[in-house]
Amino acid sequence: MKRMLLAVIIGLPMAALSQSAALDEKVEKFLKEHRSEWHDLNVPFVDGQTLHDIIVKKGYKSALEIGTSTGHSTIWIAWAMSKTGGKVTTIELSEERHNQAIKNLTEAGLIQFVDARLGNAHELVKQLPGPFDFVFSDADKNWYAQYFIDVTPKLVTGGCYTAHNVIDGNTPREYVESVQKNTKFETTIDKKSRAGIMISYKLKGD
Ligand SMILES: C[S@@+](CC[C@H](N)C(=O)[O-])C[C@H]1O[C@@H](n2cnc3c(N)ncnc32)[C@H](O)[C@@H]1O
Repeated sequence: MKRMLLAVIIGLPMAALSQSAALDEKVEKFLKEHRSEWHDLNVPFVDGQTLHDIIVKKGYKSALEIGTSTGHSTIWIAWAMSKTGGKVTTIELSEERHNQAIKNLTEAGLIQFVDARLGNAHELVKQLPGPFDFVFSDADKNWYAQYFIDVTPKLVTGGCYTAHNVIDGNTPREYVESVQKNTKFETTIDKKSRAGIMISYKLKGD
């Protein structure tokens, strides 16, 4: 309904409108049918929804995800990208999970909004040029601090850097505290998420 209203306001042709409504239906069906089937360290449904909602609300178009696994969060991010006209680059080390993610994203109808990279994010995040306006960090927690150092110069002002598992004890406390203290970012922790999502908006002046 929201998409229809938006399309009417911006004068989107009816064919495009019905195409996007069909995509929404397909993604919703996929998410509903697979809701209890994510067993590869994937984010829960509610966390995926949070990421999706931030992107749609802010109109972000260039996302980076570190840690694809089998693609649950990627599906939520890519779905948001289908609404904003953007694309997400996502990185995974395990070939099996990367392949399964591609399969899932294809089945959900979202593969065209995704650049899925197989490789070590330690190197890949340094190589990717950016710029990004949204980042989801969800791979190896002991490398979170280094990812933050490598990626934030490529994050646009007003962009958002998110990190998963910040209240469940999986992420080093020093990382969480250092981001919270960083005055170049406005940081909150979403506690609807049982694992905890740290959400940091990049302020002007960096
Ligand atoms: C918590 S899972 C990601 C879950 C995913 N975001 C989701 O919600 O569906 C973390 C993933 O990061 C991958 N990973 C760990 N270290 C990595 C690295 N150095 N480079 C790329 N991927 C890595 C793991 O193989 C694992 O699949």
